[in-house]
Amino acid sequence: MRFELVGEKRGYHHPNSTERWTSRSLRTRKTRCRGHRCDAIIGRVEEQTLTDGTIWLGRPDADDIDAIAEACQDPEIAEWITIPWPYRRTDAEEFIGTTVADGWAARCPIWAVRTAERGRLLGTVSLGTRPRDETAAEIGFWLHPEYRRKGIISRAVTLTCDFGFDPAGMSLIRIQWRAFVGNHASAAVARKHGFRYEGLARLGSDHRGTRRDHWVAARLHTDPPGPAGEWPVDI
Ligand SMILES: CC(C)(COP(=O)(O)OP(=O)(O)OC[C@H]1O[C@@H](n2cnc3c(N)ncnc32)[C@H](O)[C@@H]1OP(=O)(O)O)[C@@H](O)C(=O)NCCC(=O)NCCS
Repeated sequence: MRFELVGEKRGYHHPNSTERWTSRSLRTRKTRCRGHRCDAIIGRVEEQTLTDGTIWLGRPDADDIDAIAEACQDPEIAEWITIPWPYRRTDAEEFIGTTVADGWAARCPIWAVRTAERGRLLGTVSLGTRPRDETAAEIGFWLHPEYRRKGIISRAVTLTCDFGFDPAGMSLIRIQWRAFVGNHASAAVARKHGFRYEGLARLGSDHRGTRRDHWVAARLHTDPPGPAGEWPVDI
């Protein structure tokens, strides 16, 4: 396990139970996955701060609204992520009040990326699962333009994947990455972190009312952390 937990909120809370348990006394709900037998801990993801000592991933809160609203003025974020555009402060408020809150409650954690435990939010990274498909998730990330090309998202992706695959984290079997065709920066991150290219989905995603092609790649819990070979040379 390469991530380190910070703070007191550790453990897992099954959505159908009022019982809370710590990582020392985990109760597992065994689940059988198609094609794999796995003893996975499936349930709500408790709020966790993850750190490698250089960056910190923690749940974003109302104090981060201004930083999110400022970063999301970046046209590149709007080009590659389906955020509202133009992006207003009320969009950041809704992100914190609804998207983040609902996400953590539904096994879709969203972390703020910071370079100090209580530092400014520089970006976000997330793992989104779907109901009744709890051992697969999709990773998402963005970073404020001033902080790019410094390896910050690389660190965030490493922490997030380690946590996602870890039986003491989310017990994931598969983490998928998806990006609109042309997003070479995002593809470089995915390739570097062991995501294997799986193909192009024609008009696979909706982007504010327009359908766009997207690339798909994924890392399985058994795959090495990277870099992954066999990506098309032009990506
Ligand atoms: C994608 C994004 C998060 C990358 O963040 P970052 O902090 O700059 O990434 P890192 O510095 O950790 O770089 C990781 C790797 O990607 C490479 N990379 C980053 N940006 C790149 C670019 N524009 N073109 C080519 N390679 C790039 C880096 O060189 C590095 O590889 P290396 O270590 O082998 O040199 C950032 O560009 C961003 O926020 N873009 C807008 C939002 C977005 O596209 N999100 C993803 C949606 S799918």
